[in-house]
Amino acid sequence: MRYPAPAKLNLFLHVTGRRADGFHDLETVFQLIDLCDELQISVRKDGDIRREPAPSSAVLASLADADDLTVRAARLLQQASGSTHGADLHVDKRIPAGGGLGGGSSDAATVLLVLNRLWELHWPRARLAELALELGSDVPVFIHGKTAFGRGRGEELTPLQLPPRWYLIVDPGVAVATRSVFNAPELTRDTPALKIAALPAGGGRNDCEAVVRQRYPEVARVLDLLAPWGGRMTGSGACVFAAADSREALQAPATAASAFWRTFVARGLDHSPIL
Ligand code: C5P
Repeated sequence: MRYPAPAKLNLFLHVTGRRADGFHDLETVFQLIDLCDELQISVRKDGDIRREPAPSSAVLASLADADDLTVRAARLLQQASGSTHGADLHVDKRIPAGGGLGGGSSDAATVLLVLNRLWELHWPRARLAELALELGSDVPVFIHGKTAFGRGRGEELTPLQLPPRWYLIVDPGVAVATRSVFNAPELTRDTPALKIAALPAGGGRNDCEAVVRQRYPEVARVLDLLAPWGGRMTGSGACVFAAADSREALQAPATAASAFWRTFVARGLDHSPIL
């Protein structure tokens, strides 16, 4: 069996405060898109959690088992549930890793959702989402599987119906360390909270963008090239996207960007295909 794990874009990302637990309070819209990793997951009777066959991407191959979010998700659920089952996990990677598209988080969410079923745990989604937050701030949205407004670390979610849109995503090919962006002294951390859980009138902005633009010249180049199309960074970078009402409207920026960088065109989704 093959199971999808969709990517997300942060249509805007406001940092509204710093918290005592070391994280930041955010406001964002997570837009799910139809750019997906694909996982193969099967049950092992011996209780082992294994990545098999060999990891399919250079990024995954460079990770130790203990750092791979799919392995960590399976181990966490096994521990928390006391299940004696194990799993074989294999990821066909299509979502650029470390690009702010939530690929690793979505892979982890798909593992939790599928093993919840295959191990016959019958945990409600809210309980899975709580466990998911231990793996990362972006994992719960993929458990709920809906395009949503997010608050807190991104786990307080309100589903949103947005008009159907297409997205051009450009991968600058550099890896941005999320932690270093959030730790940057120059990060704006006092954007006022919105009154309603919706896309702000003007579209809002990504507060991480100024920090990343300054530190990663390649991201600045992509942002400059996509500026006429309203290019914006997703998450803490490095990927940059532009939105339009049709695929055709993205043809010009796609052609311009693909001369230098890897590009993707994806459609917005209301629901994750895993549901
Ligand atoms: O939750 P996640 O593992 O994605 O977070 C990585 C790092 O990014 C955290 O250790 C923290 O430094 C920073 N972060 C934050 N506030 C958030 C999300 C992430 O400060 N809401």
